[in-house]
Amino acid sequence: MADETKPAADDTPPPTARRIGSRVIRVGVLTSGGDCPGLNSVIKWIVRGALDDVNMRERGEFIEVFGIKDGWKGLMRADVEFGRDRSGNVFPFRDDELVRSIDRTGGTILGSSRTNPMLWGPEQVDESERLLANVEELRLDALIVIGGEGSLTVANQLNARGLPVIGVPKTIDMDIGGTEYTIGFESAVQIIMNGIDNLRTTAGSHARVFVVETMGRNCGELAIQGGIAGGAFMVLVPEYDFDLDRVADRIRRRKERGIRYAIVVAAEGAKPTGSDYIYGGKKDDIGRPVLGGIGVYLQEQIEERTDHQTRSVVLSHLQRGGPPCAFDRRLGRQMGLAAIELVEKRRFGHMVAVRDGKVTSVPLASALGPRRVADADYDAERYRPRYRVLA
Ligand code: F6P
Repeated sequence: MADETKPAADDTPPPTARRIGSRVIRVGVLTSGGDCPGLNSVIKWIVRGALDDVNMRERGEFIEVFGIKDGWKGLMRADVEFGRDRSGNVFPFRDDELVRSIDRTGGTILGSSRTNPMLWGPEQVDESERLLANVEELRLDALIVIGGEGSLTVANQLNARGLPVIGVPKTIDMDIGGTEYTIGFESAVQIIMNGIDNLRTTAGSHARVFVVETMGRNCGELAIQGGIAGGAFMVLVPEYDFDLDRVADRIRRRKERGIRYAIVVAAEGAKPTGSDYIYGGKKDDIGRPVLGGIGVYLQEQIEERTDHQTRSVVLSHLQRGGPPCAFDRRLGRQMGLAAIELVEKRRFGHMVAVRDGKVTSVPLASALGPRRVADADYDAERYRPRYRVLA
C-alpha cells in the first residue's frame, strides 16, 4: 500500500478522502488487447464503485483510480516525477463526471494495444522491470487489468512477482477459462445475428449460399452462438476440422429438399482437415498470425463442389464495434463494481468471473486454462451445435 513516509504524490487526496480521514489506496486501470463493446461500462463502474460516498464511508478508505492509456504501453511510457506522470499516460479520475456517459459507447476511452512488457519492442526484450519501477514510482498500490487471455497471463506473472493485480475478462472470442462470460461477447453475437438477418433475405431472393466469416481464432463459441441466434445452417469452428466434401454434400441435400438458400458461419480459425488455418501471411504486434480468408476459401470450394452460387461476407472488426448491447452494459457494471470490491478485500491475484450465473472471483491462473467448444456442445458430423442442452 502507499508508503505514508513519502511526500504526497499527485496532489492531495480529493476532499471526500480528507473528510473521512482515511488512508488512500491508489489503483491503476488499463484495457489491453483487442477492444470490444462493454469496456467503457467496466471502466465507469470501477470509477463509480471507488468514488461512491456510501462505499467510501463503509470501507473507511479512499480508493483513488488512475486511468492508464493504451494498455501496458501507457505504463511503460510513463515519465514519473514525484509520483506524477508527466507524459499524460497515467492520469487520475478525480470525479465520476468523466465517466458518467461512457457506458453507452463501444471501444475504450483508455485506448488499448497488443503489447507485452516481457516481449517488448521489435527485439522482444523483457522490459518488465521498467514497468514495475514505474508502478512503484507512481505509487500505485494495485492494478486492474481488463484483458483477454494474453493480457491476463502477463497480469498473473506480474502478480507472482509481487505486483497486486485484479483481472477482468474481456474478449468477443470467449476463449478465457475460469469464467462463463467475457465482456463484449453478447454484443458481438448480436452483430453476427443482425448480419445474418440482413443476408438471409438477399440469399433467399437469389437462391444463394452465403458464408459468414466471424472472429474466433482458437475458440468457436462466438461462431456457434452467433450462428444459433441467426439461424445458420452450418457452423464451422477451429476445434473441429471439417471435410469439404461433407460440407458440400450437406448443402446439396438441403437444396434438394427445396430450401432455396443456406447460411454457413465459419470462425476465422476453422480449417479443412489436413490444412493449417488460412491467413494472408501477416503477423500482429505480438507475433500472432492475422487470421482471415476462410470465408472466401469456402465460397470458392462450395461453389465448385455444389454448382450453387455462393457469396461470402467477412464480419471482421464490425463485431468489435458499435455500442454495447444491454447485457454488456449490465455485466460491465457488475464486473467493474466487483473489481473494486476485490481491491477493497485485497483479493489480489484474482479475476472477476461469472460462475453458475453469478458474479464472483477466481484465481487469475484459472483464466489461463483456455476455454474451448466441447463434444457435448458440437456435432462434428453435421457441423452444427447439438440439439441437446441438458447435462
Ligand atoms: O479480440 C480477439 C480477436 O477478436 C480475434 O478473434 C482476432 O483474430 C483478433 O482479435 C483480431 O484483432 P486485431 O486485428 O485487433 O489484432
